Amino acid sequence: ISFFSFFNLQVVNGIEIYSMKIDSKVTSRFARNVITSRAVNRGNVHKEVFFDVELPKTAFITNFSMTIDGVTYPGNIKEKEAAKQEYEKAVSKGQTAGLVKASGRKTEKFTVSVNIAAASKVTFELTYEELLKRQFGKYEMFIKVKPKQLVKDFEIDVSIFEPQGITELEAEGTFITNDLQNVIKKTFSDKKGHISFKPTLDQQRTCANCSQSLLDGDFTVKYDVKRTTPDNLQIVNGYFVHFFAPTNLPQLPKNIIFVIDISGSMSGREIEQTREALLKILDDIRDDDFLNFILFGSDVHTWKEKLIRATPENLDEARKFVRGIDTEGMTNLYGGIMKGIEMLNAAHEENVVPKRSASIIIMLTDGQPNVGISDTQDIRAHVKKATEGKYPLYNLGFGYGVDYGFLEKMALENKGLARRIYPDSDSALQLQGFYDEVSNPMLMDVELHYPENEIAGLTKNSFKHFYDGSEIVVAGRFVDINQNSLTVDVKGEGANDALSFTTQQDAEQTAKAFQEQEYIFGDYIERLWAYLTIEQLLEKRTAATGEEKENLTAEVLDLSLKYKFVTPLTSMVVTKPEDYDNQAGIADKMTEGIDIFSFALSKKPNVPLMYPKRKALFDGDPHFIISVPQKEDAICFNINEKPGDVLSLINDPVTGITVNGELIGDKRANSDTKTQNTYFGKLGIANKHLNLKVTVTSEKITIQNGNEKTAFTWLDSVTLQQEGLTLIINREKNLVLSMGGGASFVIVLHQVWKKHPLQQDFLGLYTLKSHKLSEQTHGLLGQFFHPIDFTILEIHPGSDPKKPDATMIIKNKELTVTRGWQKDYRKDPKHGVDIPCWFVHNNGAGLIDGVHTDYIVSSLF
Ligand SMILES: *[C@@H]1O[C@H](CO)[C@@H](O)[C@H](O)[C@H]1NC(C)=O
Ligand SMILES: *[C@@H]1O[C@H](CO)[C@@H](O)[C@H](O)[C@H]1NC(C)=O
Ligand SMILES: *[C@@H]1O[C@H](CO)[C@@H](O)[C@H](O)[C@H]1NC(C)=O
Repeated sequence: ISFFSFFNLQVVNGIEIYSMKIDSKVTSRFARNVITSRAVNRGNVHKEVFFDVELPKTAFITNFSMTIDGVTYPGNIKEKEAAKQEYEKAVSKGQTAGLVKASGRKTEKFTVSVNIAAASKVTFELTYEELLKRQFGKYEMFIKVKPKQLVKDFEIDVSIFEPQGITELEAEGTFITNDLQNVIKKTFSDKKGHISFKPTLDQQRTCANCSQSLLDGDFTVKYDVKRTTPDNLQIVNGYFVHFFAPTNLPQLPKNIIFVIDISGSMSGREIEQTREALLKILDDIRDDDFLNFILFGSDVHTWKEKLIRATPENLDEARKFVRGIDTEGMTNLYGGIMKGIEMLNAAHEENVVPKRSASIIIMLTDGQPNVGISDTQDIRAHVKKATEGKYPLYNLGFGYGVDYGFLEKMALENKGLARRIYPDSDSALQLQGFYDEVSNPMLMDVELHYPENEIAGLTKNSFKHFYDGSEIVVAGRFVDINQNSLTVDVKGEGANDALSFTTQQDAEQTAKAFQEQEYIFGDYIERLWAYLTIEQLLEKRTAATGEEKENLTAEVLDLSLKYKFVTPLTSMVVTKPEDYDNQAGIADKMTEGIDIFSFALSKKPNVPLMYPKRKALFDGDPHFIISVPQKEDAICFNINEKPGDVLSLINDPVTGITVNGELIGDKRANSDTKTQNTYFGKLGIANKHLNLKVTVTSEKITIQNGNEKTAFTWLDSVTLQQEGLTLIINREKNLVLSMGGGASFVIVLHQVWKKHPLQQDFLGLYTLKSHKLSEQTHGLLGQFFHPIDFTILEIHPGSDPKKPDATMIIKNKELTVTRGWQKDYRKDPKHGVDIPCWFVHNNGAGLIDGVHTDYIVSSLF
């Protein structure tokens, strides 16, 4: 699936976007897309224009340029660190365009802005490339469009060339009205397909005299190719690519084990959606499949002792079982997954399941292991040893409380993959959708053999399973660049017998198949090979350590620079010459998707100057980040108070849960509040109904349960469960605390260098499962657990050229806000991760209810 550019220019008064074009060329599944936006400043002062692009996560940017008044400023690809330095140099010299990154489910976004003079024109041109993957029998491009204003010259143009021949081509859009239906022009014949969507200004209007654009939504292109043979081999200029997707094979019976997290944190919506998805999945399970359920909370429960055939009677019983699934206790992930592997091993040894059958483990979890073995490296080592590569392990991570890196590594080490399930109304559908992808295995142990001495740089060529509707792609290059023919042996195990055949192809045949191709980009196979190689090396690098990781990093970097791909190791920098205010833009790729907790409170030691009016004195101020998921954006603010003050962070009269935080100062003696940095040094978390108090400082953790007192230090590794309380201390890192009905908190310990002249250790607080708190929850953080929305208008240059100001409409008020970054320390407690946000000045005035001093309370409890 290809997710394709939701893009727009944010309109500042007087800026007219007069042209927007997405031009996409696909040759043998490899797509090169060029997005071009042209704008003119019709005003009489200079203005900032933003270029916002949302790209598929699987795509690599390959070029970006700005053309201002006829002069083009090209992008240069650099190693990430070097790019950052160059960017910062440009920033420090003059003013610059900022980089804003955010990430959605399947896309990631960057924004570049440029200040253009009155009557000047600017053109942004961005190119990205990707290999379209086949899923459910189709290659798909998903085009999200949102120009936000009427555009004189708007066009989406997609040209497809497939040497095997195109069998179907569809194009549709969620915003397409009956009137617009005819505007989509679609043609295909034999090897070529073409789609064009070019609405006039009037056709873009929401109504006859309206100035609003109805272009707002998803535009999808889908196609498939002819398959007269199970595979297709193409050779061009010393490189080859091999596509393998046999059709009309009988399905393999499958043995499927669902390993489901039922720990307390899954309670409520998550467990409901899990039940709903499992019930739907049971409807699709075939009569000759085998299945079982393993549930893990504090303990491990199995539905049946062994895998059991999916007869109608058994499925009925399974439905009853699924309806009765309920939550309990903590997260014994290790016990659950190991039970699943043992059960599959036994089923094969005891011939409970057919010899020719595909075994799969699907694990769903929303938390982190904390019972049994909780060290994720240990779990990985045990799991790898137990599966011996016999079964793919698919890990589904529900929500943001999971250690996704661990799930991904473990899946990749066991021939599977990891997916995120986003907590939303469609979570059940996401689960089901994943099951559908792996529910139709047709072949096992697929191996594609190429003559070893002729080939170099071969991408992955052995696959545990081949699923119906998907496609296997292998690429490589010839040792001898002049070699122009290739023989491949293909083997796999099917439902009834083995599949085995030999394919031969030469460059001439490929050239013949490409004869009518006008827009072939000659090096497409070489680029496809580079793309696939980088993708697979990055995947390998995820689970690698030490020297192996270093070697993989060097290899990826080398290829990324050579082929000019913006990967997680490279960036693209565009710098304007000095006479043009030295603007710079930078294009970056994130390693992993959206990872913003609902609400976060933390601290920022040692970050560079962020807010121009406030000088660099805010190193240690408590900062608050409020994520607004529907905007994929965040709001942030600081509270400046003196050491010793206690602030009410969360206060829920219904569940009885309160969280208060006490400020500490830095090591400076008797400085006044104006210059002193403050930190959260002590947190008090209480549940009044349960008579429970937990005090956390940077040294120790004290639990008072009635009259009973227990204390730990940050040097302890602890998993503690008692009535109404679960506490996990991850030595010197963080602790996870759940109370009563499931509301949980993560407290991160920030340790600074002991001899640091000023800073002290301090704490950060993150809230998980805030929906477990009541509607009446209040406090500096608590008030934002209720849905909140805002609108941004009038983005304009602020006093720091790097950070534009804007007007924010929120709670029926207009506030002046500044674009900035705050640190999120959950993943990387040392350096933190930058989260772009709109900063509200003056202690959150206008954003928080009342004034900030209302939140000062007399004591921790
Ligand atoms: C990048 O785009 C610019 C502007 O279209 C073009 O001049 C340049 O040749 C492109 N670079 C590459 C490597 O394709
Ligand atoms: C559109 O505006 C014009 C000029 O203001 C007016 O004459 C016409 O009736 C309007 N049409 C509709 C459908 O409102
Ligand atoms: C890393 O690369 C070096 C140099 O090519 C090689 O000698 C070494 O064996 C490699 N190490 C690993 C673990 O692959």
